[in-house]
Amino acid sequence: MQKLSSLTLPWPTNWATLFGTDRPLILEIGFGRGQFLFHLAQQHPDHNLVGLEVSNRCLTHVENALERMEFENVRVIHGTAETALHHMFQPATLTQVHINFPDPWFKTKHGHRRLMQRDTLDTLVNRLAPGALLYLATDIIEYAEMSSEILQATPQLENLLDAPWAGSMPGRVTTKYEMKAIREGRSCYYFAYRRNDRPALPLPVIKEWDMPHIVFSSPLMLPEMLSRFQPSDSVDGETRVSLIAGYQGEDTLLFEVFIKEPTIEQRIGFLLLARDQPHQYTLQLSSLGHPRSTAGVHKAASLLGDWLIGLHPDSQVLINKLREDSD
Ligand SMILES: C[S@@+](CC[C@H](N)C(=O)[O-])C[C@H]1O[C@@H](n2cnc3c(N)ncnc32)[C@H](O)[C@@H]1O
Repeated sequence: MQKLSSLTLPWPTNWATLFGTDRPLILEIGFGRGQFLFHLAQQHPDHNLVGLEVSNRCLTHVENALERMEFENVRVIHGTAETALHHMFQPATLTQVHINFPDPWFKTKHGHRRLMQRDTLDTLVNRLAPGALLYLATDIIEYAEMSSEILQATPQLENLLDAPWAGSMPGRVTTKYEMKAIREGRSCYYFAYRRNDRPALPLPVIKEWDMPHIVFSSPLMLPEMLSRFQPSDSVDGETRVSLIAGYQGEDTLLFEVFIKEPTIEQRIGFLLLARDQPHQYTLQLSSLGHPRSTAGVHKAASLLGDWLIGLHPDSQVLINKLREDSD
C-alpha cells in the first residue's frame, strides 16, 4: 500500500484524484487501531473516508488491515490534524469529523499539543461544510469540560444534544480507549455538534515558496566549517528554528534542522555542497524529511547561510534565492 503523508501530498490535496472518485469526505482524527474508521467506512460506502494519525505503529497496523479488507473508500495519512486541516483540506469540504479519545496533554507546557483548542477548532470549523457533523468522545472529565467551553463559544456550531454532552452514544462501535475506560469503570463523555451557515473565520494563508538556495565563496574548507558548528535555537514571532547537528559527507556537509511554525513542524536537512569552482559552495535543501518550502524553511536557510558566510570575513554571497523577508 502506498504510504501517504501530509508532508508529501499536494497542498491542498485533490481528494477526488487520490480516491479516484469525487464523494463527500469524512475525517477521523487519531484513529488508533482503526476500528471506528472501518465502521464508518461500512456505514458510509457512498463517502470517502480519510483517517489521520501521527503514530507510525497505528498507521502500519491499519494499512495492513486495509490490505486484507475490501474498502476502496478509505485512505490513511500520516500527519497531525493541525497540519492536515490547515494545508490539505479546502474550506467547507468535510461532511463529518470524528475525534475519539484525544490525548489529553494535561501538563501546562504540553497544552499547545491539545487537539481541542481555539486555533485548531477554528481551522476545523472552516473546513466543515454547512450541515456537517462534528463528533468528539473523551473519558476525561477535565477534557470534556474544556472542550464543552470552547465548542459552546463557537457560533458556527450548534449542539445537537440537550446537554453539554451525553453519557452514552447508542450505535457507536467501541474504540480501544473507550473499551479501556469502560473496563476500568470510567465514564465517557460524547459530544455531537452541527455546523450552521454562519461564515467561518478566515484562516491565515500560508504559502509555499520556491526552494531556498544560496551560493557563496569562502576561503574555509568544509571540515573547518563543520568544526565551528554549534547547535542553536532562534525564535522569531511564532517560528522557531533549531540548528541541531552537522555531519560530514564526501564533498558535503549535512545540517539537521528542526522548524516549528503554527501549522507545521519539520525536521529536515540542509546540504552544503562544494562546487566545481574552488572555494565555492551551494547551500540547498536535502530531500531528507520531505521538506515543504515554508517561510520557516527560508528562515532556517537564511540563518544557516548567515552563519556560514559569517565564519570568514572574505566570504561572499554569489547567488541568494531566499524569500525577501526571511532575514
Ligand atoms: C488516546 S489515543 C485514541 C485512539 C483511538 N481514537 C481510540 O479511541 O482508541 C489518541 C490517538 O490520537 C493520535 N494523535 C495524537 N495527536 C494527534 C494529532 N495532533 N493529529 C492526529 N492524531 C493524533 C495518537 O497517535 C493516538 O493514536
